[in-house]
Amino acid sequence: MMAYDAQQNLANSPARAGLPASADWPMRLIDGSEPGRDGVDALVARALALRAGAAPRMAPGRRVAALFLNPSLRTRTSMEIACAALGAHMVTLSPGRDMWGIEVEDGVRMDGTAAEHAKDAIAVLEQMVDVLAVRAFAGLEDAAADRADPAIAAFARHAKVPVINLESARWHPMQGLADTATWQSHLGPNLRGVPLTLTWAPHPKALPAAVANQVLLSAALQGMDITVAHPEGFDLDPQVLARGSAIARHGGGAVRIEHDRDAALAGARVVVAKSWSGFSGYGRRDDEAKVRAGHLAASLGAAGSSWMVDAAAMAKTDNAGFMHCLPVRRNVVVSDAVIDGPRSWAHETAGLRLYTAM
Ligand code: CP
Repeated sequence: MMAYDAQQNLANSPARAGLPASADWPMRLIDGSEPGRDGVDALVARALALRAGAAPRMAPGRRVAALFLNPSLRTRTSMEIACAALGAHMVTLSPGRDMWGIEVEDGVRMDGTAAEHAKDAIAVLEQMVDVLAVRAFAGLEDAAADRADPAIAAFARHAKVPVINLESARWHPMQGLADTATWQSHLGPNLRGVPLTLTWAPHPKALPAAVANQVLLSAALQGMDITVAHPEGFDLDPQVLARGSAIARHGGGAVRIEHDRDAALAGARVVVAKSWSGFSGYGRRDDEAKVRAGHLAASLGAAGSSWMVDAAAMAKTDNAGFMHCLPVRRNVVVSDAVIDGPRSWAHETAGLRLYTAM
């Protein structure tokens, strides 16, 4: 995957549209670490100022094309409204629905359902817009394919204009910015050593790990003290854990894995809940589904320890704020009492998506 290159991005910035370049517009966000810790902090400070009523720096005439290969409420709405608020324009395309189905692998024989190659779509779109954005989730069947993150990688490879990841197989940087803004809003700008628990939660469906990966990476960038809690078999990608651990250590934090949920929650100031599929579950998703069904039943009252986040779970923390990226399955992932309670930051984080997008 192409590394972030600020000069390259500046060179490809809105100058193409005859617009003045500014230092903070031409971002390339693939995993959210590209701006570095200081850059993330500056973006978060700006987002919190915008939420408090600061005047936005307008971007009239700038254009964004966003391709959504998967559904969205928050990401699509926040991006579209952010563009409108800045005087920019966003066109939203849904490949396979209101746009041709898209192929992202290079060199393949296109005799399947995809009618257009990403290379061609990008070559056309970037003559018309200043920024490309794309959402394409993990397939969960092929570990190597999901690690390669093929859709966002194709955009990073072929696009000459800046590219924003709107949730890929591995990362969700726009969510990570809003999460970080929420942490800093409640706990202050210095999050070094602040205990955060990322807890797996029950769910009826196999879900990608992009959001969990992003929580880990975003918290690691802040030097937080991160506990990843999950039942056996619902492990995160060891590459992601190793990277998160190295970044957290560099920032004065740490990452540990815990299979005892109560132990994981003790002392937490932030609890982020999310369901995800195990990295070790590639190739044996049917077996994983049976284990997941058992956890789902426990969360609905059957025998066994429940991983749903309820009031009893939150009582083990240090008055933590509760977070979930949404959408969330109520009374499966989290109880009504917790998500509707005074320590829930879930809706606030979703609201911050607008200001971090701006
Ligand atoms: N959290 C999030 O990205 O929400 P959407 O999937 O609705 O965009």
